[in-house]
Amino acid sequence: MEPGEELVTTSSQASVGAEQSPAGETAVSLQGITKAFGGVTVLEPTTLDIRKGEFFSLLGPSGCGKTTLLRIIGGFEHPSGGELLIGGQPMLGTQPYDRRTNMVFQHGALFPHLTVAENIAFGLEMSRKPRGAIDRKVAEALDLVRLDGFGARRIDQLSGGQRQRVAMARALVNEPEVLLLDEPLGALDLKLRLQMQDELKRLHRAIGGTFIFVTHDQGEAISMSDRIAVMSRGVIQQVGSPRDVYEKPANRFVAEFMGHSNFYTGQVGRREDGAGEVIVNGRPFPCTIPPGFAVGAPVFVALRYERVEVAPPDDPGFGLDGTLVEEAYLGPTVQRTIDLGEIGLIVSDTANNGRERAMAPGSRVRVRWLADSPTLLAP
Ligand SMILES: Nc1ncnc2c1ncn2[C@@H]1O[C@H](COP(=O)(O)OP(=O)(O)O)[C@@H](O)[C@H]1O
Ligand SMILES: [Mg+2]
Repeated sequence: MEPGEELVTTSSQASVGAEQSPAGETAVSLQGITKAFGGVTVLEPTTLDIRKGEFFSLLGPSGCGKTTLLRIIGGFEHPSGGELLIGGQPMLGTQPYDRRTNMVFQHGALFPHLTVAENIAFGLEMSRKPRGAIDRKVAEALDLVRLDGFGARRIDQLSGGQRQRVAMARALVNEPEVLLLDEPLGALDLKLRLQMQDELKRLHRAIGGTFIFVTHDQGEAISMSDRIAVMSRGVIQQVGSPRDVYEKPANRFVAEFMGHSNFYTGQVGRREDGAGEVIVNGRPFPCTIPPGFAVGAPVFVALRYERVEVAPPDDPGFGLDGTLVEEAYLGPTVQRTIDLGEIGLIVSDTANNGRERAMAPGSRVRVRWLADSPTLLAP
């Protein structure tokens, strides 16, 4: 058993079936929720509606307040201020086991001396359900997480991935309306993590309940979520679909946290319909200037590595000329750093589609991008 691989779930007696809901209905409503520990604020006033049935992720670096927010929703932490509604009901003062939530904790352990079935049945036993009903629910939960036949195994006879599934089954057996998942895949190796991501998505589709998923892994959040809240230092920076958050970052933090981008500072130089440029160190940097940026205004430009195309030096049409500084072969992609003179360095990440040829440092190249690829942000 590897430390950190195990999970523990709490069990709640509320066992109202999670059902598909009409679009737009709110499952969890945070209204100005704040939290301070010993006078230190870790959650600024947070207002957020999570819709019934959605897979919602709280994404952000370690220490930004994700677990605290999740624990407040689950009732394991009292907020310092604000209002929390679950299913339209005010929750403050309501114990975890009286909420329609179940939490899969980041750290903790399944009961190692109990079997898989006994671990899953634990919450149901506490609520004194009849034996037959308990056995049936445990069998259903095992089936949901694809562990049928494993009921009699001991926890220490299971792999890390199987243990995560038991933890999940233990939460799901109570049929929570809202499942709270605190980095449940964090301790797994990459391959198993990807597999468990698919499993979790499948579970979400099968159950149809609301999932609130905490992760610091942006790829995980992007691939799994209906919507993501990106957090930093106790503040939700942006809420949106994975595509919105990735392609239209609301501020510098989100732009820097999601993916890999080149960053420049400059002033809006020229704006025309569908074209324009930002002046970076006295040189024009072509990009669309969105409404709200006046000529001369200071701006911050973010351009994703994968949006930068490297062409031969004699390539006709738009482009900036530069010199290859270095090339890194990454397997699925090739990453090149190019010196653009006064503008500085620019990194390109190109899909290794079979047409990529190795380039020597010092090669002259032309780089280009679609005019609307750079994101402009107020500095
Ligand atoms: N019980 C606690 N007492 C004091 N500080 C805490 C406690 N729990 C969390 N914190 C602090 O609150 C901040 C947010 O923590 P947490 O919610 O665990 O972040 P995350 O889950 O995003 O890594 C951190 O600075 C952490 O040290
Ligand atoms: Mg945490």
